[in-house]
Amino acid sequence: MPSWPVFDQKEEQALIEVVRSGSWYRGSGKTVSRFEESYARLTGAKYCLGTSSGTGALQTSLGALGVGPGDEVILPPYTFVATLNVILMMHALPVFVDTDLDTWQIDVRKIEAAITPRTKAMIPVHLGGAVADLDAIMRIAGKHKIPVVEDTCQSHLSEWRNRKAGTYGATGCFSFQASKNLNCGEGGAVLTNDEELYERCFAFHWNGSGRRKGRIDLTDTMSGTKFLMTEFQAAILLSQMTRLEEQARTREQNAQYLTSLLREIPGIVPARMYDGCTRNAYHGFLFRYQKEKFAGMPKGRFQKALSAEGFGTSAGYTPLNKRGYLKQALNSRGFQKIYAADEVARLAERNACPANDRLCEEAIWVMQSSLLGARGDMDQIAQAILKIQKYAGELAKA
Ligand SMILES: Cc1ncc(COP(=O)(O)O)c(C=O)c1O
Repeated sequence: MPSWPVFDQKEEQALIEVVRSGSWYRGSGKTVSRFEESYARLTGAKYCLGTSSGTGALQTSLGALGVGPGDEVILPPYTFVATLNVILMMHALPVFVDTDLDTWQIDVRKIEAAITPRTKAMIPVHLGGAVADLDAIMRIAGKHKIPVVEDTCQSHLSEWRNRKAGTYGATGCFSFQASKNLNCGEGGAVLTNDEELYERCFAFHWNGSGRRKGRIDLTDTMSGTKFLMTEFQAAILLSQMTRLEEQARTREQNAQYLTSLLREIPGIVPARMYDGCTRNAYHGFLFRYQKEKFAGMPKGRFQKALSAEGFGTSAGYTPLNKRGYLKQALNSRGFQKIYAADEVARLAERNACPANDRLCEEAIWVMQSSLLGARGDMDQIAQAILKIQKYAGELAKA
């Protein structure tokens, strides 16, 4: 399988230039601004703010939107821990909406039932490079006047109805962490089309200091934290961006071919894309493994067998709504002072997500870099699965 990350002298040269310039932070250099302009142009967003991570981008969005103690924020349970952590960091209550088993995205049919007068924001996640149902999400958000923070951390270049994911909500948040399709080790960005929100994001991510040269001066009017992108991160990103489109096309072609092969195998169910998702970035190739069709062989054993055939996979996420640290946070001193005990107790019931529980049992991810190889690699993945299925009875007993 192809190695990741992909780089050459371009990245080395870009880093050397930053080192030699002596301007290593955005206050004195121009590389972060150059990246922000390029990424805004690439996505069609009016404003882009570079951040130190995707987590930082998400928290910046919540901070700029004024999410805080006593508020509720809607999120899906099938996502990376950061989507939840940023809500807890603002001392808001996370309200989980179950997953659509077919697409792995937030189940939009269940969102309205989760909304209360305290719902202050919604964080749908565009999972695995695909796009959540933005038609329904934006309609519901508009009806209830709830800002949407798109967690686009896994969906660089993904599109909904031919417009980039991350440009529909109040903000769109991206991650450039090492595993991501656009990678600088650690990094992130916030997109928005709203000038005032952009200025608030800028202030929040820089200890509340406003942009004194901008039209809006927030100096001394809001607090914040520090999530600045460095010049080094931006230099790597600008180099990596020169490869992004071609890599995205390769992943797309391979993933489409792999879908056609795997959907013919009983017990392998590739995640379905919504019709509105006109481009999938394929941060992973997602499929459900139904052990009944493999002589009852547990998922872990199947993954081991696939690994022995040369294909490493990930088991994906465990149910975020059931994580121990969530319980601990809700019972912490700060939360206990803000929320009544019966309110927190009720939350566990509100947060039940049975479809997601099933998805977590069946989910398997082929990681994005595996989709960067030759078309023949996809044939080999399918052949390996067929071979495992053929010997599943023996493997299950072994
Ligand atoms: C869905 C999702 N949200 C948020 C994040 C957080 O991004 P980062 O790791 O850059 O902080 C990630 C990254 O792993 C992610 O996959």
